[in-house]
Amino acid sequence: MILVTGASGTIGRHVMQLLQQSGHHARAMTRAPSGRTVPPGVDVVQADFEDLSSLRRAVADVRAVFLLTAPATPTPDHDVALLAVARSAGVNSVVKLSAIGTGERFGTATVGAWHQAAEEAVRASGLAWTVLRPSSFASNCLYWSDAIRAGQPIPNLTGDGEQGVIDPRDIAAVAVAALTDPAHAGKTYTLTGPELLSVPDQASQLAEVIGRPVETVDIPPSSATQQLLSSGMPPAAVEATAIGTAWARAGRNRILTEDVAKVLSRSPATFRDWAQRHREAFTRTP
Ligand SMILES: NC(=O)c1ccc[n+]([C@@H]2O[C@H](COP(=O)([O-])OP(=O)(O)OC[C@H]3O[C@@H](n4cnc5c(N)ncnc54)[C@H](OP(=O)(O)O)[C@@H]3O)[C@@H](O)[C@H]2O)c1
Repeated sequence: MILVTGASGTIGRHVMQLLQQSGHHARAMTRAPSGRTVPPGVDVVQADFEDLSSLRRAVADVRAVFLLTAPATPTPDHDVALLAVARSAGVNSVVKLSAIGTGERFGTATVGAWHQAAEEAVRASGLAWTVLRPSSFASNCLYWSDAIRAGQPIPNLTGDGEQGVIDPRDIAAVAVAALTDPAHAGKTYTLTGPELLSVPDQASQLAEVIGRPVETVDIPPSSATQQLLSSGMPPAAVEATAIGTAWARAGRNRILTEDVAKVLSRSPATFRDWAQRHREAFTRTP
């Protein structure tokens, strides 16, 4: 049995789907099981990283864990809690979803400090481990869909900073390889798409896919911080986001790797592939 945490989210949904398609027994973890969060017919466990007894239920009879945490404010506590119950329950291996740039110094700050602490806990856990450090998800641009459908410009927080934007399905495919093949134990993979793209590059590819112009508007760091705070995001999360976007804006995420191709023996999908599959999100009328 493989436990998939974050199973209702962007990456976890794909991990569940790919595990099922390849005939593996997978259990989806969510705080709120329903047909909306996890497809019907899936083995599901209701559990919360904040509730140790629910985590103990989640890891019962589990061999491997896909560990995806998304705490509202940055903390390694969710990773640490899961690792503790997994070790006691005799789980063999863990695949941790981290982030590109984790631990890199940027000015006085460290990019992805909470993922860095969580990675250290994973490596010290005594379980066989694989760490995945993906670049910026192609699916982040779904946040732009309302603006694009309304013909409005999309906010650009990262200026001309290019990133190796990656299809979430490729991240999930690498996770499934690591969950099912011990050859990936002890490896840290940095996962990118095949090309470097800035937000204006993504906008022009989306424009070609939907057949209408997509403009961008530059949001300087001070305004971005103000907007995120007034949207209700907790200050610690705003600070972590600001560090990550400043890092990308400065061109520090101008990184392409071969890791997806090495693990999957095929090229990663392009942003255009992803945009074509999600065209409807940017074009449908309400
Ligand atoms: N977006 C990017 O460009 C990017 C790039 C690199 C790395 N990352 C990393 O990717 C991760 C986010 O992945 P994602 O986009 O797939 O996530 P997502 O779509 O935001 O989904 C978050 C998942 O976490 C679960 N969750 C949240 N709080 C929980 C709790 N207290 N207990 C149990 N489950 C909880 C949610 O499940 P329920 O609500 O169903 O309980 C949901 O399935 C983060 O670690 C982020 O740092 C993101």
